[in-house]
Amino acid sequence: MADKSLLPIGVFDSGLGGLTVLKALRLRFPHEHFIYLGDTARIPYGSKSPRTIQRYLELNLKFLEDCGVKAAVIACNSASTQASQLTPRDLPIYNVIDPSAKKAAQSTQNGKVGVIATRATVQSGAYVRAVQAQNPDINVTQQACPLLVPLVEEGWDDDPITNLVVYRYLSPLMSAQVDTLILGCTHFPILKSAITKVTGPRVELIESSQAIADLIEQDFQSGRLTPNHSGAASELRVFTTDVSDHFQALAQKIISPQMIKQLELADI
Ligand code: DGL
Repeated sequence: MADKSLLPIGVFDSGLGGLTVLKALRLRFPHEHFIYLGDTARIPYGSKSPRTIQRYLELNLKFLEDCGVKAAVIACNSASTQASQLTPRDLPIYNVIDPSAKKAAQSTQNGKVGVIATRATVQSGAYVRAVQAQNPDINVTQQACPLLVPLVEEGWDDDPITNLVVYRYLSPLMSAQVDTLILGCTHFPILKSAITKVTGPRVELIESSQAIADLIEQDFQSGRLTPNHSGAASELRVFTTDVSDHFQALAQKIISPQMIKQLELADI
């Protein structure tokens, strides 16, 4: 049987925002190979119903399985809300909600946690359940921020308009006095500077990318996953379900031109 440890780790998102997660995973696990899949033909997931998101999630995971991955990371928060509905598979599958919720529960001092996410993620209540599963006394205030995704896609992460929109969305969370804020959407780490302008330095920002990297590291240590010890240079293939110059430029902006030479088309 082929040596599973040599197989790549699959990372999937509705689009290119999940490259923020891939970037963190590559930094943490420089000897692993990765395959990234961005479902750019169907983005956004955040405005879709649970049933539709589930269907897309199954299709995308099947693509990664067919590529032969040793584990799959659902980097998309909206898709992660449907992880519990997945058809059982013989493959470790990671969602970003559970590790981020755990980190937030450990971080809060005043028991007040905020979540910013897409509408689909907020309506699913997945973060509220996951944080309160850690500690039922924590108060979770959620805010859907649908306008932030297109602002990032437009490249307006450092723009007065974005600062205003962020201020408007975060105001209720500031009034609720959250001391910990979960960035519950792949795109939001790109807006960290705009977000910190509103929250100030005392609110702890929880990023899925670090939380999922911590969890995978634990699994390498416990033996649930086998690390690649071959010493070969790490390989990365990036697939999208739709390819355009805009996506190519956005991908290179998030993760650096050297890493992504070309987007490959995944015909799903
Ligand atoms: N990747 C999605 C998420 O993290 C944001 C973009 C979308 O709506 O598909 O929820």
